[in-house]
Amino acid sequence: MSLQQQVTQEFQKRFGSAPSAVVRAPGRVNLIGEHTDYNDGFVLPMAINRATYIALRPREDGQVVAHSLDFDETAKFPLSKFENEQAGWSEYVKGVTWVLKAAGYTLQGWDGVLAGDVPIGAGLSSSASVELATARAFGVTSNLPWNAATMARLAQRAENEWVGMNCGIMDQMISAAGVENHALLIDCRSLDTQLVPLPPNTSIVVLDTATRRGLVDSAYNERRSQCEAAARFFGVTALRDVTMEEFHSRAAELDEMTRRRARHVISENDRTVEAAEAMRRGDAVRLGVLMNASHDSLRDDFEVSSDNLNIMVRCAQAQESCYGARMTGAGFGGCAVALVHSESAETFADAVSATYQKTANLTPNIYVCSATNGAEVL
Ligand code: GLA
Repeated sequence: MSLQQQVTQEFQKRFGSAPSAVVRAPGRVNLIGEHTDYNDGFVLPMAINRATYIALRPREDGQVVAHSLDFDETAKFPLSKFENEQAGWSEYVKGVTWVLKAAGYTLQGWDGVLAGDVPIGAGLSSSASVELATARAFGVTSNLPWNAATMARLAQRAENEWVGMNCGIMDQMISAAGVENHALLIDCRSLDTQLVPLPPNTSIVVLDTATRRGLVDSAYNERRSQCEAAARFFGVTALRDVTMEEFHSRAAELDEMTRRRARHVISENDRTVEAAEAMRRGDAVRLGVLMNASHDSLRDDFEVSSDNLNIMVRCAQAQESCYGARMTGAGFGGCAVALVHSESAETFADAVSATYQKTANLTPNIYVCSATNGAEVL
């Protein structure tokens, strides 16, 4: 049974009649453009065929009653007054409720059943998918105008200020604005987007190392401050405004660490823009080369990879059917992404699974992914 059917059936059981709508918002995988979003730079993610679904029906009494199938837990709160209880999944629902109210929207409550298949904590943006699904749910009950960039900004604010994770805009933006069969080149300063088709006869494979790193928040915030310090040194708003030539002309004045952090961000922005061009030409070979270079830069200059991510990327790159591979998302654990020949995608997955298992002594999770739409009413 599909997740859409599961939430519909459970809704019927719990609330006594059919839902009036089912909404869906996806997780994402980033093809290239890592740790560039909070530097006002470029990212190139796609929305994936793993998502959060909510079956829902408006309520008239100003309450939200949301049941999570995955956690077998119900959250109930009045729109007029609710607090952050650090209660896990439901704080994403409350956070979005809070931010929509703060933005001045008049909200109507709902009964809902949620379920998702974005693995939690794997770096595939399960939280953004819950946030955007919640925004869509309110969109239905409260007749909100749907503008992907506006909703993404609000969801990011919920994540920053309600949940307390200081993320950039990428995850919320792609979950809001993804388009089937395409990646999205996002300018994280203007939030302008361009649709970029996947090269013909290629598949995107997500390679979950089965490792998670708890300290990712503090390391992430540290990288952000290092990037801000580098931008101050160059006298610009964000590293997006520094070209590779400008960087080289003053690189010697920077301390070693700041130099490496800045070099990653500036070169990654260039790679991302070039990757979109390669995709438009259907040039999978060039895209693969850029993905490999991105990994090296994240590993050596930005220092956000991990032993297991490096092993996974090497296992993937060693396969003949692989154009390129890199870690994806914040890093330190979680997933890598590979670009492979479509005909060999399943063989690739089996081979990488076997070699990773042998080398890392861990069982990975491997998904051949398709690019889907962003948050939508089904
Ligand atoms: C996490 C954040 C994003 C982005 C990536 C790194 O996924 O949520 O905003 O910064 O890390 O590219």
